[in-house]
Amino acid sequence: MRQVFKRTVRCGELRIENAGEEVVLNGWVAKKRNLGSLIFCDLRDRSGITQIVFDDTTEQSLFEMADTLKSEYVIGVKGIVTERESKNSKLPTGDIEVLVKELKIYSGAETPPIYIKDDDNADENLRLRYRYLDLRKSQMQRNLEFRHKVAMSARNFFAGEGFLEIETPTLCKPTPEGARDYLIPSRVNHGRYYALPQSPQIYKQLLMLSGCDRYFQIARCYRDEDLRADRQPEFTQIDMELSFVEPEDIMEIQERFLKTLFRETLGVELETPFLQLPYDEAMNRFGSDKPDTRFGFELKDLSEIVRGCGFKVFTSALENGGVVKAININGGADQFSCKEIDKLAESAKSYGAKGLAWMKVTADGVTSPIAKFFDEETTQAILEKMEAAAGDLILFGSDTYKIVSDTLGFLRRHIAGRMGLLDDSKFNFLWVTDFPMFEYSEEEDRYVAMHHPFTMPKEEDLDKLETDPGAVRAKAYDIVLNGVEAGGGSIRIHDSEVQKRVFRALKLSDQEVRDKFGFLLDAFRYGTPPHGGLAYGMDRLVMIMLGASSIREVIAFPKNQNAQCLMSGAPGLIDQSQLDELAIMNVKEEE
Ligand code: AMO
Ligand code: AMP
Repeated sequence: MRQVFKRTVRCGELRIENAGEEVVLNGWVAKKRNLGSLIFCDLRDRSGITQIVFDDTTEQSLFEMADTLKSEYVIGVKGIVTERESKNSKLPTGDIEVLVKELKIYSGAETPPIYIKDDDNADENLRLRYRYLDLRKSQMQRNLEFRHKVAMSARNFFAGEGFLEIETPTLCKPTPEGARDYLIPSRVNHGRYYALPQSPQIYKQLLMLSGCDRYFQIARCYRDEDLRADRQPEFTQIDMELSFVEPEDIMEIQERFLKTLFRETLGVELETPFLQLPYDEAMNRFGSDKPDTRFGFELKDLSEIVRGCGFKVFTSALENGGVVKAININGGADQFSCKEIDKLAESAKSYGAKGLAWMKVTADGVTSPIAKFFDEETTQAILEKMEAAAGDLILFGSDTYKIVSDTLGFLRRHIAGRMGLLDDSKFNFLWVTDFPMFEYSEEEDRYVAMHHPFTMPKEEDLDKLETDPGAVRAKAYDIVLNGVEAGGGSIRIHDSEVQKRVFRALKLSDQEVRDKFGFLLDAFRYGTPPHGGLAYGMDRLVMIMLGASSIREVIAFPKNQNAQCLMSGAPGLIDQSQLDELAIMNVKEEE
């Protein structure tokens, strides 16, 4: 005899049309009310809730059994769908209830440490500790289901475009994304380590050399970085690589993919082609290489206008080769008191800002602590350049180009958030193109690759590789959604001479190159197709599509900010015997 009732329908699926049917439901008791001669329970599974009833027609023994039910008991019921007397319009199944004829209690449950309710507001650490309970919430179930739909839509789309899904190793040589690696000691090769992949980058390029032509994978990636709301130590990429392509070919496929994805999963029609912003323009106008274009507040350069003014902060920044730029917070004059502007200045300090000069525009002129340094003509020129009108607040940054960009780039988004301008229902995609090939690392005193060292420089900049590496632009592109880097990719170098010159510009010795990437360079000697690709951060994409506050909301079992799994206790301590096998010393946890 079966121990478990065979389900005929899920708890969220019954409607008035089902009235009269006999059904079998399995699920968790979400709520029980005993009104004496009536017992009502909300029965929950991942699809929703159905009210089940025991009434005066219920057999005595069944009624008594029903009375023992408590929250989170797991049960199965057979019963008849009946129309409810008092309907609940808030519930999709609110027109019906199931009058129970048979009940099985599969397991009891202790009182759960968190409420299984979407608006539970439990501390996130508690939610993560009891993640399996947290995931019972309908919002979390919806998030997991939505994520699944995104993965399915991606698989279908790319399969339809001739991509092969191919798995690549997770015990690897270090990959070149530039974050810190997670390392795995080898038991059979003492003193040697695998790295977990920061991405499938090298393998997907090798697949192009193998003739695979179009590769695709939903791939786990591992990076030992400082964590934030949109960063996890392990995360998922929708990763791909294509042979015989230019950037425009890759972008065109992505735009069709995203259009299909948004239509299939959200019913949203995206406008394509997406805006393309060269990196320099993105930095100039938005102070960021991942601009959020859902609102204005663009950066304007005032350097020429204020060059001769009497304000030392501005003039000395300009004398030192810096810039003076500003953003116009339209309608912000009333919303930010002096005290609040001070707070903005304080929060901008972590981006290097030394102060935050401001100007409020009124019907009869301007108020500003620095107005006295400008003559009438300069003030007018500022207002004109900023397209300012009465009620506007202008915020100034003066420092190096980088500090001013970072500061005003941060402030424009921070303030937009405070003013409620970050509309979750808008999906503003854009491409950022023409990234610099290298950025200078003060720490390492050398140029480092901005994307990774296999990225192809733009052909017209190749001759600057030796003379002016900082000016070389790359055939690299990022896809940005609402101010978040949702993905990135590039055309790769397929010419070993160019690759050597790039390694030289990065000041990598021949030996280092051999040790790190020798096997890839060897492979390149046997016939290399021109190729390129891209990877989406799938967690980030899903987060934005759902309007979630962090990628942790769309990952079943995420880590906390200290890269710990609060549920399992990972990372854990290891027995000495296991360490001995690996020939590594145990470092005792500090008290
Ligand atoms: P990149 O390093 O830009 O490129 O990574 C691609 C995308 O992955 C997401 N991402 C992350 N998401 C969550 N947590 C993290 N720690 C994290 N780090 C990155 C971002 C990012 O845009 N191999 C190249 C791709 C290529 O060139 O084809 C790569 O990995 O959304
Ligand atoms: P101070 O002359 O230092 O009192 O500064 C006058 C105003 O300029 C204040 O509002 C400061 O916040 C602002 N300020 C100071 N340094 C900078 C800077 N580097 N960029 C923009 N504003 C600044």
